[in-house]
Amino acid sequence: MHAALAGPLLAALLATARARPQPLDGGQCRPPGSQRDLNSFLWTIRRDPPAYLFGTIHVPYTRVWDFIPDNSKAAFQASARVYFELDLTDPYTISALASCQLLPHGENLQDVLPRELYWRLKRHLDYVKLMMPSWMTPAQRGKGLYADYLFNAIAGNWERKRPVWVMLMVNSLTETDVRSRGVPVLDLYLAQQAEKMKKSTGAVERVEEQCHPLNGLNFSQVLFALNQTLLQHESVRAGSLQAPYTTEDLIKHYNCGDLNAVIFNHDTSQLPNFINTTLPPHEQVTAQEIDSYFRQELIYKRNERMGKRVMALLQENEDKICFFAFGAGDSGRRARALESGCLGVQHGTATTS
Ligand SMILES: *[C@@H]1O[C@H](CO)[C@@H](O)[C@H](O)[C@H]1NC(C)=O
Ligand SMILES: *[C@@H]1O[C@H](CO)[C@@H](O)[C@H](O)[C@H]1NC(C)=O
Ligand SMILES: *[C@@H]1O[C@H](CO)[C@@H](O)[C@H](O)[C@H]1NC(C)=O
Repeated sequence: MHAALAGPLLAALLATARARPQPLDGGQCRPPGSQRDLNSFLWTIRRDPPAYLFGTIHVPYTRVWDFIPDNSKAAFQASARVYFELDLTDPYTISALASCQLLPHGENLQDVLPRELYWRLKRHLDYVKLMMPSWMTPAQRGKGLYADYLFNAIAGNWERKRPVWVMLMVNSLTETDVRSRGVPVLDLYLAQQAEKMKKSTGAVERVEEQCHPLNGLNFSQVLFALNQTLLQHESVRAGSLQAPYTTEDLIKHYNCGDLNAVIFNHDTSQLPNFINTTLPPHEQVTAQEIDSYFRQELIYKRNERMGKRVMALLQENEDKICFFAFGAGDSGRRARALESGCLGVQHGTATTS
C-alpha cells in the first residue's frame, strides 16, 4: 500500500463520485437463499498478513447477522486488531458524545427556539411518549424493556440538547425505530464480541470529529432542518404522509448486499435529506446548502481523514491481521476509492488461511 497516496487519492476519487442518492425501491431486492449467494460488505486489503474493511450498519444485529457470509465472520475471527469509527463500548466515548450534544452555558431549548417551533416540538414528543407503549413489541416487554424507560433513555433530557441533535432524535423516534430497540446494533455487537474474544480494539475517530461538524450548521440552517423534520412527522401523525420505512429498506438492501442502494443512501449516515422539490425557492437554497455542507464535512473531509488513519494503523501493525468496521455506506465509498486506485483492495473475497 502506498500510504502517502491515500489521503489525496481518496479525496480526488471521491470528489468525482457525486452520485445522487437513488430512491430505495421497496419491492425488488429479495434475500438470497444460500451462502454462495450472499454478497458481503467485506473488502480485503491484500498484504501479508491481510487486512479487512467491513461495512457495518447501525441496526439490530439480529436483523442482519444470518445474512453476513461466513467469510466475513471468519475474517473477523482471524483478526488480532479490530478498529471501529468510535469505540462505543468505552464509557468515556459515550459520555463525550452525550455532552457534545448539549446546549452550551446550561441553556434550554425554550431559550433558543422560536416559541412556535418549541411548542410544536414539545407537542410531538408528548405524542411519541403517549404512543410508545403501543409501539413496543411483546418481545421487548418480555426482556423487561418498558416504554417509560426507553423514552427517558432516548429523549429524557431533550430540552437541554442542541436543536440539530433534537432533530436527529425526532427522526429516531418513529414506530419502526422504537420497535427495533433493545438489541445491540451490528457495530456495537461486533465491538462486544471483539472484547469477549480478547482482541485488541481501537477507534479511528474522536468524538469531536463526529460531533462538531453537526454543531457547525448555523442557526438559520438548523431552524430550517428542525422545522422540516417536524413538518414531516406532523404529516405522518395527521395521516397525510406515509411513515418512511427507511430502516426496513436499509436492512433489506444490506441483507441483499445491494451496495449501490446502501452507499448512496443518505440514511446510512443517518442524516435526513431536506431537498424537496415542493419547497419554495429560498428554502430550496437552504436545503441545498445543508446538503453540501454535510457532504463536505461528513463525507469528503471525513473520508480523507479516516483514509490516512487507516494507512497509519496498517503501517503500525504490519504483522497483524487488522479488521476495520465502518458504516457500510462510508466503507463502501472508501473501499471503492481504494479499489479504483489499484491499491490491492479486493471486494468480497476473504481468504483467511
Ligand atoms: C447561515 O449560512 C448561510 C450559508 O452560508 C448564510 O447564507 C446565512 O446568512 C447564515 N445565517 C446566519 C444566521 O448566520
Ligand atoms: C416552517 O416551514 C414552513 C413551510 O416551509 C414555513 O411556512 C414556516 O414559516 C416555517 N416555520 C418556521 C418556524 O421556520
Ligand atoms: C416537502 O415539503 C412540503 C412543504 O414543506 C411538505 O408539505 C411535504 O410533506 C414535503 N415532502 C416530503 C416528502 O418530505
